[in-house]
Amino acid sequence: MPAYAVIGAQWGDEGKGKIIDFLAENAAVIARYSGGNNAGHTVINDAGTFKLHLVPSGICWPHTMNVIGNGVVVDPDVLLKEIRENDLDPSRLAVSDRAHLIMPYHITLDRLEEMRRGSAAIGTTGRGIGPAYVDKVSRQGLRVGELLDPEDLALRLPEIIAFKNEIITKIYGGDPIDIDEVFEKANHWASEIAQFIRPVENIIDEALVSGENVIVEGAQGALLDLDHGTYPFVTSSNSTVGGTMTGLGMGPRAYGGVAGIYKAFCTRVGAGPFPTEMEEEEGTRVREMAGEFGVTTGRARRIGWFDGVAGRYTARVNGFDAMIITRLDTLDGWDEIKVCVAYEIDGVRTDQFPVDAMTLDRAKPIYETISGWTESTRSITKARQLNSGARAYIEKLEEVVGVPAKIISTGPHRNETLVLQELLD
Ligand code: IMO
Ligand code: MG
Repeated sequence: MPAYAVIGAQWGDEGKGKIIDFLAENAAVIARYSGGNNAGHTVINDAGTFKLHLVPSGICWPHTMNVIGNGVVVDPDVLLKEIRENDLDPSRLAVSDRAHLIMPYHITLDRLEEMRRGSAAIGTTGRGIGPAYVDKVSRQGLRVGELLDPEDLALRLPEIIAFKNEIITKIYGGDPIDIDEVFEKANHWASEIAQFIRPVENIIDEALVSGENVIVEGAQGALLDLDHGTYPFVTSSNSTVGGTMTGLGMGPRAYGGVAGIYKAFCTRVGAGPFPTEMEEEEGTRVREMAGEFGVTTGRARRIGWFDGVAGRYTARVNGFDAMIITRLDTLDGWDEIKVCVAYEIDGVRTDQFPVDAMTLDRAKPIYETISGWTESTRSITKARQLNSGARAYIEKLEEVVGVPAKIISTGPHRNETLVLQELLD
């Protein structure tokens, strides 16, 4: 059977880890294609709670092969930690030889650049993601495969580090990177990671040719996409479906479908426009109740109502054929729930999402208010257990986004999942 992409449809943290762990039961390969350890995916199943940043969320199933594609930026310290913690071996995990490395100077520069931006800071995760992608594009990057060529590293690294140190010390007034420490790290990484380095496009191709399912795992969300998100308040890679093809080396005909994961409300962490953001008091109440704090940085997430304008836009730029709704149970017991169906911008009503951050900042949400429900949806797994209020809310989201809801998450555990329609055959 085909590949199926599962992509964050909002500003990240939509519950991708949970859903991918659930779907991985019927997949042979789970593949990450973009971002790095700026992602924070929580997986909860009978084996425990797993907080993953880099390795795909299919690792809890012993039958899966998990791959990190060339479009991902890899911090080997994080990779090795996750390999150790989850007892992974090369039969379960592969990393592309062409994925770019996050080096210690990238992390230093990420933090220094943010400090320099001052009040215009993006609120990055500080993991070196942006600077690593900058080096990739400016052709100064080091790739995972190069760890296996110490002679090449010995030639290139001193020059790269000398240049980075000039920037770190002369522009930012920071402390220089110690070149010997970097070499030591690189040697350690090479010996530990070598066995996991493989051309991952072959693994994907073989699975597809054998008729097995491949799940392409999104990180971040479509509104954080470098091209289609709310630039400059975005991440540095293409989290939308386009990034899957360059980030893994597969073509569009591999796809059986593309699903978007939408939280039943909205959150955003970091700076940038957020039209449906709740007032401080209400947002705090939801955040505390729903535990909306970042898995990667522990930051309090900003909370908003479901944004149907943004949701319809991300469905279009990704070509979603299925909507997966998470955290529905969080809305249990609310008197009324708002859904943003249009914006008013400079006095004009529109249902088009203005991608430009300045314009979006002026967008005032126009809401439809829906009555809540008193019954619990927590842990339900059958459509007949869905009360009429929750069903009406799901139907409203389907209407505003324009895509059918196929899976509803009713709690963080793998089993707390309601399948309305199968995604994978
Ligand atoms: P998951 O996979 C939520 C946000 C950061 C910041 C912006 C740029 O868990 O959904 P970066 O470090 O990428 O340069 O930061 O992007 N961001 C995320 N927000 N979930 C994520 O990943 C994110 N990854 C990056 O907060 O606003
Ligand atoms: Mg997250």
